[in-house]
Amino acid sequence: MSFIVAIDGPAGTGKGTVTKILSKKFNLVNIDTGATYRCVTLDMINKGVKLEELDKIKEILKNIKIEIKREKGEQKTFLNGDEVTEKIRSKEVTELVSQVSSIKEVRLSMVDLQRKMAEGKDVIMEGRDIGTYVFPAADVKIYLDADLEERAKRRFNQNKEKGINMSYVDILNNIKQRDENDKKKEIGALKVAHDAEVIDSTTMSINQVVREISSIIEKKKKDIKMQKKIYKVRKETKWKKFVRAIVKETLRTVYRIAFRVKITGKVPEDGAYIICSNHINYLDAAAIVLFNKRKVNFVAKEDLFTHGILMWLGHLFDAIPIKRDMQDIEAMKRCLKVLKNGELLGIFPEGTRKGMAKNMKAKNGAAFMAIKSGVKVIPTGIHGTFKPFSKVYINYGEPIDLSEYKNQKDKLDEATDIIMNKIVELTKEEPKN
Ligand code: DC
Repeated sequence: MSFIVAIDGPAGTGKGTVTKILSKKFNLVNIDTGATYRCVTLDMINKGVKLEELDKIKEILKNIKIEIKREKGEQKTFLNGDEVTEKIRSKEVTELVSQVSSIKEVRLSMVDLQRKMAEGKDVIMEGRDIGTYVFPAADVKIYLDADLEERAKRRFNQNKEKGINMSYVDILNNIKQRDENDKKKEIGALKVAHDAEVIDSTTMSINQVVREISSIIEKKKKDIKMQKKIYKVRKETKWKKFVRAIVKETLRTVYRIAFRVKITGKVPEDGAYIICSNHINYLDAAAIVLFNKRKVNFVAKEDLFTHGILMWLGHLFDAIPIKRDMQDIEAMKRCLKVLKNGELLGIFPEGTRKGMAKNMKAKNGAAFMAIKSGVKVIPTGIHGTFKPFSKVYINYGEPIDLSEYKNQKDKLDEATDIIMNKIVELTKEEPKN
């Protein structure tokens, strides 16, 4: 999996400079997407092709060869084999590039090229539409902005250093016009991605901007590392089984000392079932797991796995981490695999502790999986306060068959209600069945 940083924003915000520094700092391949549009523009100028000559532009796109290479620590751009790093920054190219980049065919072709350039690499990409269009799932999205006058001033000084002759007023007008044009493009218009971090660099130094983006990148890298740890499936081995048995026995003893656990009903000795229980306390999932002869693979919110010991226990007992605020397909697949293997799956349909008391709608995941896999649900009621030495009741009900709901996606709520009603009945101290 490659790591993608998208740096978007209008001209003159310092994207280029910041991207260069960050690319070195984090060892990311630097892809300046603006340079690709500038190459097409330069090729058109060289060949005398006008904006309205679409057939000729298509011909250029068919044959164009653009390369961005690193030579002696410097980023160099090549067009059809010739180095054009400086030429693409000329006044002529700068004045025409925004219009060229608005041509649909040019955009589609360049976006395709940009995606290929990034394939399988860790990259930092600078442009206008990276976070919204080229890589909408980029790991880090930054939108760099600054006041128009400040941007024009920066570009003027930059040009002076490079020996490019353009007056301040010309630059100001050019940037203004490009901003307007870039914002109303049919494809890949300049806009802030909904999940981008916006940084206004008007009064910031380059170092400050670099520092701010660096901390965002570092945090993301840390999160990804943690996610990998959380989602890593620990293979079942004899040693793991052995350690699990010892830990289970030890914790069960602790539970027996701390609470008086009373169990009614039972879980069948083999076959796949989904144990659906009410959720009153952090300790209730453990009670179900520890007082079951069989292994119960419990679904647990992923933040639980960020604590060292809980992560270790979660992996030991094959708990399945789930992202709460979205449809977690990965978690769903792991649950279905557990059921396919004839094992027990544990779920709290309330989704959160005391969900019913908080009037929250129960989640449909358990009913969905039961129906999809043809597995029965064991409704389970837990009753107790989990205060030291108090009684804790785990009441298992008769397995519920939901097969009549097969192919009736619209009746998932009804199926969930059946499970929940049964759970409520079982949360009494002395259930009827
Ligand atoms: O970043 P730059 O000034 O080199 O970009 C040149 C032009 O290319 C700019 O006016 C807008 C366009 N561009 C674009 O439309 N999409 C991108 N991803 C990058 C640049």
